[in-house]
Amino acid sequence: MTKTPYYLYSMGLLRETIEAARNAASVDDRFRVHYAMKANTEKKILEAMRDAGFGVDTVSGGEIKLALDCGFDASKIVFAGVGKSDEEIDLGILAGIGCFNAESTEEIEVISQRAALLGKRARVALRVNPEIDAHTHHYITTGLAENKFGIPMVSLERAIEMVQSDDHLELHGLHFHIGSQITTMKPYEILCERINALQEEYAQRGVTFPTINVGGGLGVDYDNPSANPIPDFREYFNTFSRGLQTVEGQEIHFELGRSLVAQCGSLITKVLYVKKGLDKKFVIVDAGFTDLIRPALYGAHHLIENLTSQSDESERYDVVGPVCESSDVFAEDVILPLTQRGDLLALRTAGAYGAVMAMQYNCRQLPGTVFE
Ligand code: LLP
Repeated sequence: MTKTPYYLYSMGLLRETIEAARNAASVDDRFRVHYAMKANTEKKILEAMRDAGFGVDTVSGGEIKLALDCGFDASKIVFAGVGKSDEEIDLGILAGIGCFNAESTEEIEVISQRAALLGKRARVALRVNPEIDAHTHHYITTGLAENKFGIPMVSLERAIEMVQSDDHLELHGLHFHIGSQITTMKPYEILCERINALQEEYAQRGVTFPTINVGGGLGVDYDNPSANPIPDFREYFNTFSRGLQTVEGQEIHFELGRSLVAQCGSLITKVLYVKKGLDKKFVIVDAGFTDLIRPALYGAHHLIENLTSQSDESERYDVVGPVCESSDVFAEDVILPLTQRGDLLALRTAGAYGAVMAMQYNCRQLPGTVFE
């Protein structure tokens, strides 16, 4: 038996999900999909994205290197993030990546200096804060006016002028990302309206953008993963196809992370003890927040299934990990079939922001990986 805890990935579901996204995106020939690799960097998963023809959205030099190693075309790599170091910028420029998504005027200056030093030109898209509330967890909402991401609308004009007047920079487009785990289309409809208005305003001044990047954020069903294994990509892409007005030759870029990989992964963990508390029963498992931090960090819900219990009876439990912190709790008061030491549990919908956020606190080993 494979040593627990480990991430179990269904390559079949991954391929179906990618195919569904690809088909849905093909409704509009302006569309290009980049996989937001921060969600999961398993090589097999990256290769499946590459084979589907997707580009890749990166947020560090490490991700750029991994994407290049996996055979992504440099021109299909975009590089985002508020804190790009000089070394990371140089790496991107020398590799000839498709675009830097710049998040401040201060960063634009540095990209220009680095490009000048290297005798190259860098393509830059400006990340704009469209001031839309995505109504998601405050740790993963990013489009409001004052946060560390993006350039506020009021500073956009100056940022555009900086890029346009710089010999070492090329204005590649505008970039937006309003948040993650967005489950209704309304925020995206508003985003389309904001982008249309912005484009119109700039068109009047003779400024057009080769690309419009609308970011990622499409949510998945954490409550019923088996009933809804594949997100409604059709509704998502149709919303932009209907909603976004573009000019001749303009491309629309998407950066999907969670929606492509969340459902294909589960964290498999073994029950070490079933401990009777005063009122509660605790199922203590061998995975902790070091393996899957989403419940502890965001209060996120991951459906828990007992894979091995044969019991017809059920019981109410708190499912907790072994880490020496009281936040190391996967779920409180969940009903599971009668559970005992040695049972295997699956924490579902863990393919996105699971393994990539694992850590070694308490000198714990990183979780293993199994593909099926
Ligand atoms: N583009 C940008 C600029 C982003 O910041 C993100 C995610 C994405 C695309 C991909 O978003 P997605 O399609 O995956 O929603 N660790 C958190 C999620 C953090 C998301 C960060 N940015 C979680 O576990 O919920």
